Amino acid sequence: DDTLARLDDQTKDQDLSANVAGPGTRLTDNMGHPISDDQNSLRAGARGPTLMEDFLFREKIHHFDHERIPERVVHARGAGAHGYFELTKSLSQYTTARVLTEVGAQTPVFVRFSTVAGSRGSADTARDVRGFAVRFYTQEGNWDIVGNNIPVFFIQDAIKFPDLIHSVKPEPHHEIPQAASAHDTFYDFISLTPESMHMLMWVHSDRAIPRSFAMMEGFGVHTFRLVDARGQATFVKFHWKPTLGVHSLVWDEAQKIAGKDPDFHRRSMWESIEAGHPYVWDLGVQLFTEAQAEGWDFDVLDPTKIVPEDLVPVQRVGRLTLDRNPDNYFAETEQVGFMTTNLVPGIDFSDDPLLQGRNFSYLDTQLSRLGSPNWPELPINRPVARVANHQRDGHMRQTINRGRVSYEPNTLGGNKPAEVPAARGGFASFPERVSGPKVRARAQSFSDHYGQARLFWNSMTPVEKEHITRSLQFELSKVETRDIRLRMLAHLEKINEVLAAQVARALGERPTAPNTARPGGTADSAAETARLAAAT
Ligand code: HEM
Repeated sequence: DDTLARLDDQTKDQDLSANVAGPGTRLTDNMGHPISDDQNSLRAGARGPTLMEDFLFREKIHHFDHERIPERVVHARGAGAHGYFELTKSLSQYTTARVLTEVGAQTPVFVRFSTVAGSRGSADTARDVRGFAVRFYTQEGNWDIVGNNIPVFFIQDAIKFPDLIHSVKPEPHHEIPQAASAHDTFYDFISLTPESMHMLMWVHSDRAIPRSFAMMEGFGVHTFRLVDARGQATFVKFHWKPTLGVHSLVWDEAQKIAGKDPDFHRRSMWESIEAGHPYVWDLGVQLFTEAQAEGWDFDVLDPTKIVPEDLVPVQRVGRLTLDRNPDNYFAETEQVGFMTTNLVPGIDFSDDPLLQGRNFSYLDTQLSRLGSPNWPELPINRPVARVANHQRDGHMRQTINRGRVSYEPNTLGGNKPAEVPAARGGFASFPERVSGPKVRARAQSFSDHYGQARLFWNSMTPVEKEHITRSLQFELSKVETRDIRLRMLAHLEKINEVLAAQVARALGERPTAPNTARPGGTADSAAETARLAAAT
């Protein structure tokens, strides 16, 4: 025990961040042996071969050879920052989660922004969805909202995620194109996946080319639950509202910046924070009951749908401030492992089938990316809350678990027999009643794929409509297979005939006449057609 205590103290005393050679420090190898020279290998004569014995050479090259870890399978390109969250309005009426009930309390956070499709070295300003992943280091454990800057998603069921991502990533035979979505495989998949139409409209809007991370909204996307002290649940959607407002680049600007400064977004965030100008958002919530949701003509478990703000307004309840840059990109931004399953007591999942699938995927992927089931021990992943369980051992285990007891129930660890198994409180799943036949099927309530796509289009200003039109014209003109282009036009027609006609014209296809009688058509279709025709 003495030896263990000594080792433990030594580990605690060791300042991992000081492991850097600088003026006045003696160079050492990784085992702490002082070394005189790490610039010349050990040779048999100054012009002779390098000796096998050169353990310093081998250690240095060996470590270098293993510096890279796999990039994230999606969201590989990212940038992160530290800060804090402060609650301004208590939600104690709805939840027991202390992070959402203690007004004025500050919770440390780490946030990582990302693009989805590009590789780690791709450009910041690509037309793409942005990841907006927030980790709260709460006293009750880590809580992650692993969200995006678009409030809906392409697919309704996580089992389709590999297909979606394979279609958007470079093609497997030649790894072309690097550019996110302007290619046949993506639109082949999308044109056969009508549920993606609402998201597709957002992706062709200016939301997909933000001016700055600080000027984009964030969304938890799925419906979650808040659970109060009596065990009653309320549905919730999470929103991040930037205090600077929402601003975008224009497409031409975005493309030029991608060439001239591919680090545009990460550089602006870094420089702004260094200069003492934090990035700030308000946390918003939409709260609604299951009974309310049952009255709506869309399903709140369907991640391709928003809850319109005129049905449920967004209440601002807290403020997120990012004011500290990471010390080391790899240790923090690269090694952070977010998980949708990082929840605290008082917050719970819903049955959204996309969320249910994500709950498996994030834990699973960390093992291949970070390499060991002990990845939660990495400094950026470690909670501030105390960790106490009987998990042990495994590759790269840092914790030294003491004693002979690593199982539960036990009395040898000090529990009194009458108290075994111990009641400890903590996270308990909301006891939702579930039943049903075991089927691979989707609910009928998930079947409207165009209603909210239309709602989105109709909510746009004329200039925003023009940008969407031009974006679709540009991207679909890159699709070589005519059948795919025609399938896409057929979908656009169900959203808005003017839009479809304009895109068709740019593709050299016969535009369909705008029909104001159909739900996609608008009363001012003719005027809009003329205006867009002049503009494009
Ligand atoms: C990564 C968001 C759907 C699997 C990420 C990241 C974000 C995100 C923000 C980057 C995390 C970071 O910065 O480290 C979302 C949203 C989704 C969604 C908002 C839908 C609403 C899915 C689905 C799956 C999935 C359906 C799989 C079934 C992954 C994986 C990673 C990832 C494997 C890489 C994680 C890592 O290596 O650390 N997602 N995602 N995502 N997502 Fe998702």
